[in-house]
Amino acid sequence: MRELYRLLADGHFHSGSELGQTLGVSRAAIWKKIKKLQEQGVAIQSVTGKGYQLSEPVTFIDEQRIKLELPAYRNIFVFDQLDSTNLEVRRQLKTGINDVLVIAEEQTEGRGRRGRQWESPYATNIYLSVSWPVTQGMAQLEGLSLSVGLAVYRTLQPYLESNLGLKWPNDVLIGHKKVAGILIELLGDPADSFFAVIGIGININLQANQLKVDSPWTSLALETGKCKDRNELIVSLVSHLREILKQQSAEGFVSMRKEWEQVHLWQNKMVSLSFTEHEVVGKVLGVSPKGELELLVGDEQKNFAGGELTLRLQDDS
Ligand code: BTN
Repeated sequence: MRELYRLLADGHFHSGSELGQTLGVSRAAIWKKIKKLQEQGVAIQSVTGKGYQLSEPVTFIDEQRIKLELPAYRNIFVFDQLDSTNLEVRRQLKTGINDVLVIAEEQTEGRGRRGRQWESPYATNIYLSVSWPVTQGMAQLEGLSLSVGLAVYRTLQPYLESNLGLKWPNDVLIGHKKVAGILIELLGDPADSFFAVIGIGININLQANQLKVDSPWTSLALETGKCKDRNELIVSLVSHLREILKQQSAEGFVSMRKEWEQVHLWQNKMVSLSFTEHEVVGKVLGVSPKGELELLVGDEQKNFAGGELTLRLQDDS
């Protein structure tokens, strides 16, 4: 299927017999594969006498270009398919390779927060992970997931006129719809030397019928009406991420706190914060120097740390 996708990537018409010959299968087999791709939401038109055409040409991730434009990373790996980029960074770290950036065209076991799955269709979005050495103890991690959210915000902001923002702790939203997610995992012994594995997924060229996810989501292409070159976005994302991580090590999240609050979509809103067995209702005052959510509950300020919390908009006040 991925080979067929690559043959169609140029956006030109290709006849069933030409595709069949290249892949060594019958025209009927090509027709079946095309149907499957269409069922997965890939927009392909078929015209009698001309063949099949992708409605938008696809630009694949260009490993050479990324390596050239990101010289600071010593170990960049681009995969056509992976279980998960976070898992691959862990494997690389275990073999002693660090300072790793892993990118994939597709993930078969994309992981989201709280054990959820992150849908990761082929040649459509950004799925990448980096390793980050933690050399100053747990304090270095305070507010990290919020600062990584800022790196994603800075990457997407030039493409969008309005409505882009963050939702505590680290969802990236356009309006009320999720466009990107961040998963940070730790590897090693916290009492000794260890690493944070920072995974980022951004919906770039996803089309309206391509995901079957319950919560509202969107993509950069859906919001702007145009497919985007993911290479340009990857280079920009990794550059912003490096800058943010440098600042996080040197000055901590506190130095980015004001910028974060300015782009927090639910700042000053009434919200409910859900835990496993109870929920708290309050008004968002901001975030603490450690990245905790500051809520006004009744007439008392309370701070909440990340983890098992869920945040729901209660009204539009
Ligand atoms: C979330 O649930 O909001 C977090 C989603 C994180 C998805 C990214 S995609 C790249 C990296 N590899 C994974 O398996 N997950 C993260």
